[in-house]
Amino acid sequence: MTTTQQVNTGKGTARHAARLPTPDDVRRMLEGVIDPELHASVVELGMVDDVVVDEAGGVRITVALTTAGCPLRAQIKKDVESKVRGLPGVANVEVAYGEMTAEQKSAAMARARFNARENAAATEVPPTTRTLAVASGKGGVGKSSVTVNLAVALAARGFTVGVLDADIWGFSIPRMLGVEGRLGGADGKIHPNVVDVDGHQVKVVSMGFLVDDEETALMWRGLILTRALEQFLTDVRWGPMDYLLIDMPPGTGDVQMGLARLLPQAELLVVTTPARAAQKVAARVADMARRSFMKVVGVVENMSAYVAPDGSEVPIFGSGGGAALAGEIGAPLVASIPIEPEVSEGGDAGRPVAMTHPDGPTGRAFAELARRLAEELMPPVEMAGCTARMLIEAARAKKADAGAATPVAPVAPVTPPAG
Ligand SMILES: Nc1ncnc2c1ncn2[C@@H]1O[C@H](COP(=O)(O)OP(=O)(O)OP(=O)(O)O)[C@@H](O)[C@H]1O
Ligand SMILES: [Mg+2]
Repeated sequence: MTTTQQVNTGKGTARHAARLPTPDDVRRMLEGVIDPELHASVVELGMVDDVVVDEAGGVRITVALTTAGCPLRAQIKKDVESKVRGLPGVANVEVAYGEMTAEQKSAAMARARFNARENAAATEVPPTTRTLAVASGKGGVGKSSVTVNLAVALAARGFTVGVLDADIWGFSIPRMLGVEGRLGGADGKIHPNVVDVDGHQVKVVSMGFLVDDEETALMWRGLILTRALEQFLTDVRWGPMDYLLIDMPPGTGDVQMGLARLLPQAELLVVTTPARAAQKVAARVADMARRSFMKVVGVVENMSAYVAPDGSEVPIFGSGGGAALAGEIGAPLVASIPIEPEVSEGGDAGRPVAMTHPDGPTGRAFAELARRLAEELMPPVEMAGCTARMLIEAARAKKADAGAATPVAPVAPVTPPAG
């Protein structure tokens, strides 16, 4: 599949060519691993003890658990391994467990307590929600189409899914999902609009629900761009979600960096076309991932070969672009979505093809993408009760005590923009 000798022995080889990460790089990456019960990153909680990177790109990490028998350890280990493997230059990852000292435990508890109290800064996205930013190195490759169809395919598997349209000026999600109407609000929080897929919710938030047309959105440009994403994450009452998909605007920059800061657990799904142009695209994507410390979960090749009614494939836009980009950035090629008129028709009609033609070539490709994410690459967080829960309870009790003595500053009131 890949062209050069360097990469065709697999991703390990491609990564060896990259600079080795430093232990600090590893720690930065681990800021994206959130303890699902303590609602803070494993780094913040002081759970990352030792990080050793050897010359062959092997990384050994010791994770100190709150209690040695913590049932969440398997989840944390999986998350740590998967994040660190996403760093360029990493060949393998070993995770060893330790147990926190009494001192570390009380520091972790203090941290969790602090976070609970200072919740104003945290987002409304539950820490157990798997977050996927759908991005690309250039515009018009099908990010929004992939976002809505993947959302539908995940919901059809029984998951509760959120869709955040982060394309503030060029929003297309409302049209593609066929949702309209202002966002409701209560208690100073914005409520998402909801699309029902076989009884499962897709919760949608977009600038399109707040302004009348794209022209008005453009006028808001300077005013709210930097705040819009933050507001969508912090002021929207998302509620429980297994997955949150974020449709990124074309290009890189502010929005990506903002997302990385606000939701360090977010990972990237990169969409590309089969055209093999794209060295520049690869460099841009790799740079985006590196600067924001976001892991690339995989590459989706969209507008792949057209599948004719007789089953033969016609590669209208060329072929191999997805595999080449995947090899280049050391991430798996997770799906090839055929080009099919039903995709754009469905987009225009507000009825995604994954909903109307689940058994067609594209519908099946989206279902398979959802399956790979849910079963292999980004399985939903398994919440097995952990003794850490006791820490949270203790923290809550303390907080209640402290609250009685020193009143906690109220969360700043928010006015949902319009509507
Ligand atoms: N697999 C496909 N088959 C046929 N048409 C497609 C396919 N994927 C996307 N399209 C069409 O291509 C156009 C661009 O897709 P889309 O809007 O999803 O791209 P985008 O990357 O979100 O664009 P932008 O960068 O402008 O946000 C749309 O008209 C869409 O309907
Ligand atoms: Mg788009």
